[in-house]
Amino acid sequence: MTEDGKGVRGRLPAWPRQALNSSVIAAEQAYRKRSSLPLLTDADIEALKAGQPMWWEQEGGTPPAAAAPAAPAAVVAAAPPPAAPAAALVVSEEVQKIVAQGKKWSKSSIAAEQAKRKRNNAPALNDAEVAALLGEPYVPSAAPAASAAVAAPVAAAPVASAPVVYTVGEEVKKMVALGKKWSKSSIAAEQAKRKRNNLPPFNEAEVAALLGEPYVPGAAATPAPAAAVAVTAAPVAARPAAASPAVPQGTSVARSGVSTSYVGTPAVGTSKAARAGGVASVGPEDNEINQGRRRFAWAAVAAFLTAWFLAFFRFFLPRTLFEPATSFKIGYPEDYGLGVDTKWQQRFRIWVDKTPDRIFVIYARCTHLGCTPDWKPSENKFKCPCHGSGYDSEGINFEGPAPRPMDRAHVEVAPDGQILVDVSKLYQWPKGQPTQFNDDGAYLRT
Ligand code: FES
Repeated sequence: MTEDGKGVRGRLPAWPRQALNSSVIAAEQAYRKRSSLPLLTDADIEALKAGQPMWWEQEGGTPPAAAAPAAPAAVVAAAPPPAAPAAALVVSEEVQKIVAQGKKWSKSSIAAEQAKRKRNNAPALNDAEVAALLGEPYVPSAAPAASAAVAAPVAAAPVASAPVVYTVGEEVKKMVALGKKWSKSSIAAEQAKRKRNNLPPFNEAEVAALLGEPYVPGAAATPAPAAAVAVTAAPVAARPAAASPAVPQGTSVARSGVSTSYVGTPAVGTSKAARAGGVASVGPEDNEINQGRRRFAWAAVAAFLTAWFLAFFRFFLPRTLFEPATSFKIGYPEDYGLGVDTKWQQRFRIWVDKTPDRIFVIYARCTHLGCTPDWKPSENKFKCPCHGSGYDSEGINFEGPAPRPMDRAHVEVAPDGQILVDVSKLYQWPKGQPTQFNDDGAYLRT
């Protein structure tokens, strides 16, 4: 409340205004926090979501607790807590039905539901509903503080002004001694793990030590008791308390507090919005499923990089075509009988042809379009399967479209007496021209 007794509008649109969604309210809350302005109470937030005027915007409007008799701050704070905050956290019928089905929700399911509600401009699940869906007991964190204030209002003030000084445990001292600094996300993950395992979380001093930062008692993310009590007990007292310089800048908002419960989607991660909404900066849970997902993602990355590296490496290798040798030995002339021998057709694409006075090698390629003819021993001829060209036993064409006889390969006697064939040098008999079949090297005498 301001000095003239009115509430602080902050960056809220002026009245009349439409209903505000959770993200706008969260932004306003974050702005107020940065600017040390009184935070919006749950009643304020509900009014903003419902499109209703704030109490100071109503004609003759008074703060919800203004009816209480004027009294010193401590007395006001000690007044019994109004019913409004508790009423705001009633579990809706919809959630009650879900709970009645005996179905427990996971935190990620709740986060998804909150996001969906935000998209649809539906009211977010409150802390009581979240606790019910998680199957956990709902204990408003600010409530004990409020009752403490009721029981001993005078004693509450000193508690609020004296920050608790934590000490660093032996385990953390050992970690720090290793000289390794922890990141905030690592600490958040460790805290989550400790919570799952029912272990005591790191305290402020231990967190500061792990971060390698100086420890200032009360400066870390701890609930501000005075603010929580005042906001919960009476909005009138809450505003001065929140604006008090005793609350340091950057103090986090307790997520489960009644008066400071988050608004909007309970984001996870390290975003400013998440911190402003009082949500712990933690990533996905370190469970079996997420570990499997991480392994799969890394395997996919590794496979992609490996394939990419192999392709890159292959780029530097020559594109070599391995062809059979063009010069080779086919044994001794005595190894062959008269007629056509086809034993080298598959390997060297040649036929060895022996006549009474010479031995020569026919290159098995049709002179029409290059098909490989077949030797037909029963018909004593070569027959091309492509277009029907026919050649006699010496490879001379006599039918079909072949324009000339099949070529003959160069032959000579190697030093060891074997026949050395070279198919890179061919002898031809072009149509209407002299034959090369009688040239030296076109045949061997037998
Ligand atoms: S390729 Fe042999 S007949 Fe045409």
